[in-house]
Amino acid sequence: MKLAKQILPGLWLILLAGTASADELLAGNPESGQQLHAQYCTSCHTQQFGGDGSGMYSRPDRRVNSIEALMGQVAFCVKNTAPQLTSAQVDDLVSYLNQQHYHLEVAK
Ligand code: HEC
Repeated sequence: MKLAKQILPGLWLILLAGTASADELLAGNPESGQQLHAQYCTSCHTQQFGGDGSGMYSRPDRRVNSIEALMGQVAFCVKNTAPQLTSAQVDDLVSYLNQQHYHLEVAK
């Protein structure tokens, strides 16, 4: 019984991790990401797609189809257009874009 008491809490953690949504697994803060996105990203995407620019993320031939690709593309745009952002702010942007637009699965 002693052993079971030690193992069971660990099992719970594994079960809980299994049910965590993708957004919970991402490190960033989507609220902060939304503000950063409005400040640094929207205007340029809007020039290309009109509206609020989110057509960039929903176009049929969009580039991003995995969370790794999302991280890569965000890092690319940040490096070229807002290199002063910190890696934590990049995480925030990834969380925001996934929650709001991409809804990609995050590997556990
Ligand atoms: C100066 C213009 C410009 C700015 C500013 C900009 N982007 Fe982009 N972004 C682009 C262009 C152009 C593409 C399309 C690249 C392609 O199709 O090869 C793109 C594509 C993307 C995509 C991929 C869309 C897809 O196809 O799924 C993401 C994600 C993205 N940008 C995120 C960001 C983020 C986050 C920021 C703000 C930090 C940002 N971008 C700022 C020009 C910009």
